[in-house]
Amino acid sequence: MAEDRSERVSWSEKRETRSPPSTFDRDTTRTGVDPRERFDREWPDCWADAAALLEWTEPYDELLDDDDAPFYRWFVGGRLNAAENCIDRHLEAGRKTQVALRWEGKRDEQRTYTYHDLHREVTAVAAGLRELGVEENDVVTLYLPTLPELPITMLACARIGALHNVVFAGFAPDALLERMSGTDSSALVTCDGAFRDGVAIDQKRKADAAMAELESTIPTIVVDRLGPANETQLGPDQYAYDELVDRFDGADVPPVPRNATDPLFHIHTSGTTGEPQRMTHATGGYLAGTAWTSRTVFDLSPGDTYWCTADLGWVTGHSYVVYGPLARGATVVLAEGSLRYPDRHRPWEIIERNGVEVFYTTPGVIRTFMKWGESFPAAHDRSSLRLLGTVGEPIGPDTWEWYYTHVGDERCPIVDTWWQTETGAVMLSTLPGVDEMKPGAVGPPLPGIDARVVDEDGRELPPGEPGYLTITKPWPSMLSPLESDRYWVLAEYWQQFSDRRADTWRYFTGDRAVVDEDGYVTIIGRADDVVTVGNRRLGTAELEAAITAVDGVTEAAAVAGSTGGDTDLYVFATIEQDRTDRDGLRGAITDAIVSRIGRFAEPAAVVFTPELPETHSGKTMYRVLETIVDDERLEDSEPLRNPEIVGELESLWTTE
Ligand code: PRX
Repeated sequence: MAEDRSERVSWSEKRETRSPPSTFDRDTTRTGVDPRERFDREWPDCWADAAALLEWTEPYDELLDDDDAPFYRWFVGGRLNAAENCIDRHLEAGRKTQVALRWEGKRDEQRTYTYHDLHREVTAVAAGLRELGVEENDVVTLYLPTLPELPITMLACARIGALHNVVFAGFAPDALLERMSGTDSSALVTCDGAFRDGVAIDQKRKADAAMAELESTIPTIVVDRLGPANETQLGPDQYAYDELVDRFDGADVPPVPRNATDPLFHIHTSGTTGEPQRMTHATGGYLAGTAWTSRTVFDLSPGDTYWCTADLGWVTGHSYVVYGPLARGATVVLAEGSLRYPDRHRPWEIIERNGVEVFYTTPGVIRTFMKWGESFPAAHDRSSLRLLGTVGEPIGPDTWEWYYTHVGDERCPIVDTWWQTETGAVMLSTLPGVDEMKPGAVGPPLPGIDARVVDEDGRELPPGEPGYLTITKPWPSMLSPLESDRYWVLAEYWQQFSDRRADTWRYFTGDRAVVDEDGYVTIIGRADDVVTVGNRRLGTAELEAAITAVDGVTEAAAVAGSTGGDTDLYVFATIEQDRTDRDGLRGAITDAIVSRIGRFAEPAAVVFTPELPETHSGKTMYRVLETIVDDERLEDSEPLRNPEIVGELESLWTTE
């Protein structure tokens, strides 16, 4: 497997420095004053800059309340509505006929919504949700693929002060059920199905299966994606989206003013326990953070055309497809389906046809483009592009160079943005056109962000020494757990350090990182038992629970590895001694993952081993398995209980 392996990002390597291209001239951050220095000096008042990008129904009277640290509260006393900030105020500012959303369907369809259209449909859906009994503070689960109806429904929830809970459409019914019941949802929005490579896939059946297990039934709204050729039966308490929109077309639903500290949405992520964890973001801080970073990191001004390839089921889709860019009044491109269907020209056609100026994707996608070859981007006009972004995993210097040269024609700065579901918005990144870039390193913390690399005890480490990435000062778009989630959020993320002022808290990101002399941070990877597959963060415990539920499997470990350019999932399992039907078990393990988690998590290989490598305390040593998957040499010093298993695993892996 070694030949085809993608590069790995080495943290100990010295980074080359690249100056920002001088042709990048739309820089909104260039003010003549170093923003980092000013934000340091004026912290926390500097964050008034972010709040000033929003329209407030009532101004806040306290910028930062730290009485209940680390449950900080931002913009206390302020009231605003997120949908009003993303739509209504643009109408008043003369952007009624400007395109807000441009959807590129899989079947060569294009749908365009001006800010006026968006306002009309969001309002109609908001009225429809109310009709079905959804009230302020209720939760609505959205289980939709990349259709315009997804951001529209998110904004409709926000308009009436309901929280949305978007569940990735690729998840299986079990995963949907868990996320729906865990948030006590009052309604579900889904669709009849989706096309995959020309074949209609049934989405509603998955939603119905989850609904059948829910303790009490809730109303379901069904979007028609498949068209009249695929008739869908609606059961009791199920409503056609189009009929609701027709019925409430032109309805007057004034945006409900929310406290800045009121929750805007839930989203699920994976933490060290591996269970899906309910994350919550507060209206004011989150919107201020996403709007501010959309401006300073993505350089978005009203009317700019922007495309982010992220699925809306993940936080990137929330912050940088919906809230940030729409709060900035940008034109957002939304592309349904795979970038390789119907052929490999599709991404470049989308950029060319829409005149995309800012493009944001992941290293995995860029590596796929690299594999396809430079002739594809070269065949299209990309002169509209002026800024490129990447997120989700470390980008190696070679991938960075390819992106810079073959996509950006050495004209476009690249922002390598580090952040998390929990942080809500970008935390570490270069400022485009201002900062030098170092391929492979994400860059320094953004203005106002205090990131430190520390050891186990929270002591700051000098440049060059790898440790835990932590954030010391609060930031506006930070996680804002519900009262009932505070206990585990505190245990999972926060540490108070005793060697300094008693009220100083550190937020532990769960990432390992190293900082250089210039303050540029290189991300090494996750420190906890979480795997990132295709840029989706999954808890190993959740995956392993699905695997060990298979009859005959005794123990399992799931790791991510990069073979062939994409990050894939690999399973190592031990089985009962008398089991000889290995192929059957392999199939059963794959089926269990597909049915409990979803097809996107299908493992690339399942390896049976007599034992898993373990520490003396009996914890699975994931690092050993990762090293094997990545065909790397193992350090001798690994403190294993059963070091003899390593050689055996290596030979099992090669014969796999
Ligand atoms: O490990 C880091 C990695 O993705 C994790 C966050 O995952 P999630 O909450 O799903 O959000 C993904 C999109 C923000 C981080 O803890 N990560 C994110 N961005 C980068 C990154 N690793 C390296 N470089 C990045 N730019």
